[in-house]
Amino acid sequence: MFKPLLLALGLSMGTGAWAALPSNEPIQPIEPAKITNPAKVELGKQLWFDPRLSRSGFISCNSCHNLSMGGSDNLPTSIGHNWQEGPINSPTVLNSSLNLAQFWDGRAADLKEQAGGPIANPMEMAFTHDLALGVLDSIPQYRASFKKVYGSDTISIDNVTDAIAAFEETLVTPNSRFDLWLKGDKKALNKTELAGYQLFKDVGCTACHNGSAVGGNSFQKMGLVEPYATTNPAEGVAGLTGNDADRMKFKVPTLRNVELTYPYFHDGAYWKLEEAVDVMARLQLGRKLETKQIEQITAFLKTLTGEQPSFTMPTLPPSTNKTPLPQPFNK
Ligand code: HEC
Ligand code: HEC
Repeated sequence: MFKPLLLALGLSMGTGAWAALPSNEPIQPIEPAKITNPAKVELGKQLWFDPRLSRSGFISCNSCHNLSMGGSDNLPTSIGHNWQEGPINSPTVLNSSLNLAQFWDGRAADLKEQAGGPIANPMEMAFTHDLALGVLDSIPQYRASFKKVYGSDTISIDNVTDAIAAFEETLVTPNSRFDLWLKGDKKALNKTELAGYQLFKDVGCTACHNGSAVGGNSFQKMGLVEPYATTNPAEGVAGLTGNDADRMKFKVPTLRNVELTYPYFHDGAYWKLEEAVDVMARLQLGRKLETKQIEQITAFLKTLTGEQPSFTMPTLPPSTNKTPLPQPFNK
């Protein structure tokens, strides 16, 4: 109820619709993750970093969602098995638990459903669920961890994706400077950044980029006022529904940590945040912003960089003589 209302307000009231009261701000702070099952999160972390879930034995979730680089790969489109050129830009996994659905077109309902995809995707990790389970099953420490968390040492893909999702839920980035400001620390932002935030609201960016993730909560057409020129064949939600009205509709990306997640848009065509801001203002809102305004909005966007995940790197349990061998070069 809350999100559609925000969206409707933002779209219909346009400029200056938001009062300055923090509770009325279109963006809410991110709360730190509450970890209720540390053993599950630890297991999920191991799986997240384990390249043995891929056919090559070389590609892990972290390869394309590098947690040292804002949860993305900083490439226009990802590199998959056999150095295949991926079809679309890798979205950040940071704060992805806040998304209304997963993937640019929302084809997975949640993180658990999403996590099964890449392992079996021939262009990503190029494995099968059965082969991945065979690898895990051959490693006694993994069997023991699954038994501890799920009460059975028969490892299922359901439990693998559940553990990965539990780890991903911890990948939130609270305490950005903007959040500190929202929570009342008026010195957390400088004048340029504040002016940028005011503009971000006034020109109407918050119609689509709102909520605690500053996005992630609706699907919108890319190129609302002016079409988006791209050679990338992705059609957005229309690829799923076949509905012409859904052409170029994508999940609005989160703008949290956007400073770290270049290049931008589903085709990764723009490397500079200033350019992305300019494109958005023109294509989504029909506004040509001045250079100074673009700089101000960009300065504001950089205050959305929060505390990055920080944890001990997992030591992965070694393979055994029974573990199927990786196939790094076989097609
Ligand atoms: C080869 C690169 C690659 C690998 C490996 C990979 N991903 Fe992704 N991931 C992508 C790309 C590209 C997308 C966007 C695909 C789309 O939307 O069609 C994506 C999307 C996602 C999303 C959705 C985020 C959002 O905002 O919609 C999540 C979550 C995710 N991946 C988690 C994982 C997990 C978990 C693994 C390991 C099991 C993994 N990824 C492995 C490239 C990769
Ligand atoms: C009508 C909805 C809408 C409005 C208004 C809007 N955006 Fe967007 N924004 C989107 C969508 C959809 C995308 C993803 C487009 C794509 O990848 O093709 C996006 C992507 C972005 C990105 C790239 C993020 C990434 O990770 O790739 C930035 C930056 C951005 N918007 C900033 C802004 C700013 C600044 C404004 C105001 C000037 C704005 N947006 C207004 C819907 C909107």
